[in-house]
Amino acid sequence: MASQLISAPTAPRRLEGKVAIITGGASGIGECTAKLFVHHGAKVVIADIQDDLGQALCATALGGPTNSLYVHCDVTDESQIKAAVETAVKAFGKLDIMMNNAGIADPSKPRIIDNQKEDFERVISVNVTGVFLGIKHAAQAMIPVKTGSIISTASLASYVGGSASHAYTCSKHAVVGLTKNAAVELGQFGIRVNCLSPFAMVTPLATRFVGLEGEEFEMAMNSMANLKGVTLRTEDVANAALFLASDESRYVSGHNLLIDGGFGITNPNIKIFEYPQN
Ligand SMILES: NC(=O)c1ccc[n+]([C@@H]2O[C@H](COP(=O)([O-])OP(=O)(O)OC[C@H]3O[C@@H](n4cnc5c(N)ncnc54)[C@H](O)[C@@H]3O)[C@@H](O)[C@H]2O)c1
Repeated sequence: MASQLISAPTAPRRLEGKVAIITGGASGIGECTAKLFVHHGAKVVIADIQDDLGQALCATALGGPTNSLYVHCDVTDESQIKAAVETAVKAFGKLDIMMNNAGIADPSKPRIIDNQKEDFERVISVNVTGVFLGIKHAAQAMIPVKTGSIISTASLASYVGGSASHAYTCSKHAVVGLTKNAAVELGQFGIRVNCLSPFAMVTPLATRFVGLEGEEFEMAMNSMANLKGVTLRTEDVANAALFLASDESRYVSGHNLLIDGGFGITNPNIKIFEYPQN
């Protein structure tokens, strides 16, 4: 079944007049979300370290400088995150939506005794410190106007052990902690803070991590999945981000939205619902 990104031309635009920053927006989930946000009337700032990809995306699929802007931003560098927020506010007048989506995975080494401290710290630095800085500087711009939606991309690894490396799992659990804490603090200013936790889909990060490409990757993931007949795609995460970014979710805060087809709540060893095979 094909996933749906673009709605019918008559459908209302759900982010009309809003301004968003998407970190890690040059590729994968971020790129797909940027296209959807622009389609729904948002101005989008892509903050990434892949300059050529990000600039090309803004110039083409995101409709050029009227709708989008690329800024080089390493999310581990506080001055660059601060500058990205300031650039967005200067260019488009405000910041309504911050999507902390940039993330990395470390080399897949099953035994903790083979894991290197440097790899662990690099993942924590991008996936946790990057999200912390994104929330901090988005809050700086949103507190005075008492509104905003902050969304971070966590993962299945935010609530299931053994689905990714120690560093990655630890980092995504931390994103949920930050989301909850920031949601409690920033609620008094009308700012909502949520995160998204998808199962696996084809993107450069995931195919590199799993070591499979395209259809082969999807077949492997579908065979493990709980929900059958659907293949998770970046569009599905973008649609969830659109919900959290829009006013339709105006009372949703502190939530970790699972996009995993029920994978994380199953225990495959319990088979009471197994149908007899004829
Ligand atoms: N693909 C999946 O199966 C999957 C599943 C669950 C969660 N996620 C999460 O989704 C997010 C997006 O990943 P993706 O799968 O789209 O991969 P991706 O590799 O396509 O995109 C990640 C983007 O982050 C950028 N990035 C990396 N380090 C950065 C830094 N220091 N500063 C700024 N940008 C940086 C990269 O340049 C890239 O454009 C990540 O947080 C990832 O952990 C992915």
